[in-house]
Amino acid sequence: LNIPDLIRKKRDGETHPRAELEALVLGYTRGEVPDYQISAWLMAVYLRGMTPQETADLTLVMAESGDQLNLGDLPRTVDKHSTGGVGDKTSLILTPMLSALSLTVAKMSGRGLAHTGGTIDKLESFPGWTSELSEERFLAQAHDIGLALVGQSRDLAPADGKLYALRDVTATVDCLPLIASSIMSKKLASGAHTVVLDVKVGAGAFMRTLDDGRALARAMVDIGTRAGRQVRAVLTDMDTPLGHMAGNSLEVREALATLRGEGPHDLTELCVALAVEALAAQGEDETQAEARARTTLEDGSALAKFRAFIAAQGGDPTLVDHPERLDVAPGREDVGAPVGGFVERIDALSVGRAVLALGGGRERKGEAIDHGVGVELLRKPGEAVQAGEAVLRLYHRDGRGLETARDLVRSGLSISALAPVPDDLILDRVN
Ligand code: URA
Repeated sequence: LNIPDLIRKKRDGETHPRAELEALVLGYTRGEVPDYQISAWLMAVYLRGMTPQETADLTLVMAESGDQLNLGDLPRTVDKHSTGGVGDKTSLILTPMLSALSLTVAKMSGRGLAHTGGTIDKLESFPGWTSELSEERFLAQAHDIGLALVGQSRDLAPADGKLYALRDVTATVDCLPLIASSIMSKKLASGAHTVVLDVKVGAGAFMRTLDDGRALARAMVDIGTRAGRQVRAVLTDMDTPLGHMAGNSLEVREALATLRGEGPHDLTELCVALAVEALAAQGEDETQAEARARTTLEDGSALAKFRAFIAAQGGDPTLVDHPERLDVAPGREDVGAPVGGFVERIDALSVGRAVLALGGGRERKGEAIDHGVGVELLRKPGEAVQAGEAVLRLYHRDGRGLETARDLVRSGLSISALAPVPDDLILDRVN
């Protein structure tokens, strides 16, 4: 197959059969097709789009470009993916809930980048906890506890890693079939039969509008269905950070409170909704599924799974019962309401960037982070405040990044005279 011919085909709006996608993508992954040809092809995809079948074929080609996890004998495997948000500690709560519900979570997770956090970073707030397990140990732990979590193997969907790096420098990241295939290639290669997707919409998210979020959700569910998996998506609001905490140890504390049944309303409801989707994908009745999901937070069964999981991966399980011993930076500064009224908005992107400025996130892959810093939302949108009353608390280490963080959260805070109409957290579902 002649690469310039394939670029021309896409340039003219034609459709690639799978063999052509293999020539392009696998050729590129092997280093046989150069960057400049794939750059031109990506731009043609960006401008011309892809059919659902093409998108599904591209995803499978990427998923099969490297290692694929064989979860073979594990019962009822389920994976979860969030398109990334601020204060999104859902995985820490949902995964032990699912294992307490007799599903198996054998999952690969990522680290945070820019203003969004990552599950591995949050879990590393437990000293000694490791995301590096041999495949044998990973599978054995998933079998024994129903929950194991590792970092993404470097050879998982390597085509995606190479293509993403090229998209990043050719203005072709925000392209629906490319985003959907990128996310789903990693999910398909990770092996779970059921995948629950949390597609975030709003200021702190990749997708700014509900229509864009819906289209991405639809594309990902379609890819999964064509690949023979059960995939369900929930669209959720990410204008405001989820829960009250953003920053690694702070989020772990909030996740532990939620696992004890004492979590904030929005976070608890989102975890229950995602658990219901996972159970419903397995054919369970939704009303019954909801009751069962809530029970795991009330009877301590999800917390017990989390404790066993932390211990199995080298962390100190006594911290699960003494979250006050997790390291949180001692510096504190409160940011008050400039005027009295109602909190109208606490912009998720500004809070995410403030955490980054304080040292709790990384601009580039591989950078070290401070797990103890972050931002607490003392008030959430809709609540009444007096002038000068503290709305946000910054947790800093020796003032590092404090000025920038303060400016960011101030600019992201708005107060209105009238009580705002509360936004729904769960905006839609796609399956
Ligand atoms: N996340 C991914 O993994 N890939 C994309 O293309 C966008 C977000």
